[in-house]
Amino acid sequence: MIEKINKLIEEVEQFKAENIEQLEKFRIKILGSKGSLKELFQDFKTVGAETKKEVGQAINTLKVKAEEKVAFYKNHFENNLSSSSYNHIDLTLPSGNTPVGSMHPISLIRNEIADIFGRIGYVIAEGPEIEDDWHNFTALNFPPNHPARDMQDTFFIEKEIALRTHTSSVQVRIMETTPPPIRIIMPGRVYRNEAISARAHCFFHQVEGLYIAEKVSFADLKQTLLYFAKEMFGENTNIRLRPSYFPFTEPSAEMDVSCPFCKGSGCNICKGSGWVEILGCGMVDPNVLENCNINSDQYSGFAFGMGIERITMLKYQINDLRLFSENDIRFLEQFKSVLL
Ligand code: DAH
Repeated sequence: MIEKINKLIEEVEQFKAENIEQLEKFRIKILGSKGSLKELFQDFKTVGAETKKEVGQAINTLKVKAEEKVAFYKNHFENNLSSSSYNHIDLTLPSGNTPVGSMHPISLIRNEIADIFGRIGYVIAEGPEIEDDWHNFTALNFPPNHPARDMQDTFFIEKEIALRTHTSSVQVRIMETTPPPIRIIMPGRVYRNEAISARAHCFFHQVEGLYIAEKVSFADLKQTLLYFAKEMFGENTNIRLRPSYFPFTEPSAEMDVSCPFCKGSGCNICKGSGWVEILGCGMVDPNVLENCNINSDQYSGFAFGMGIERITMLKYQINDLRLFSENDIRFLEQFKSVLL
């Protein structure tokens, strides 16, 4: 009997399964309810006392080895490691769709604005979101008690430190450190202490523009902005400049574009006027140049500032500012196909 068991142990040790069917056959043959082990246990009852111990141990070894073998191959096949399953992979099949993300609409439009100005030589500059009074207000010609400071409801961190209320602060930082000519755009996030609604938010994004050189005129400003408007909203877009006031520019203006939806004939987006306002601009006030140690007799320049949300809302017909910061996947997914 011991010979028979040893033969079976050898068989188990040498067994190799190529697929799950072979393994199952092997399992039934050795461990099954009518298998070799069952038979051996039956015969074991008749074994004489003198060999009982030896035979018992041998049967046990056979059982352990057979179970280990089955467990090993089971695991092997379940983890798809069998060589036969490799053979069934068809390498010529096209792959499944890879899920792609989407760019946030604010990023899309920011990149587009940067691109448009990049084509006429503007480079990007950035500055801190936590700003001091000098760069956000004082250097920009807001006197200490000037009513214009009230135009900005500000989040203060300390007495003279606040979250910047506009990207105009970056103008100052660049002019302080860079000799003209300067031709930059400055995208970034800004903060104002406003109640959140469809039309106002406590944070949003702006792009500031600045051109400082010798003999820069208002005509240069107008032509630059006309070029921008046509690139952004289409070749047939018109612009108009209305006189306005900002402490850091003189003269100052606000720019409207002909309504991109009704092309100027009047609709509910432009409230029937045919025009929509998109930015503030003007000639940099000589006081601002002097505050930044730029000689205002030699140099002049223009600046402009626009809200990215506003332009994005016009481009994509979005009617609620809150959508930009809620991260609703149903909103964001709609920008999947926009490649910029
Ligand atoms: N800083 C202004 C704002 O936040 C926008 C602005 C207006 C920027 C006129 C400028 C400018 O550079 O010349 O409303």
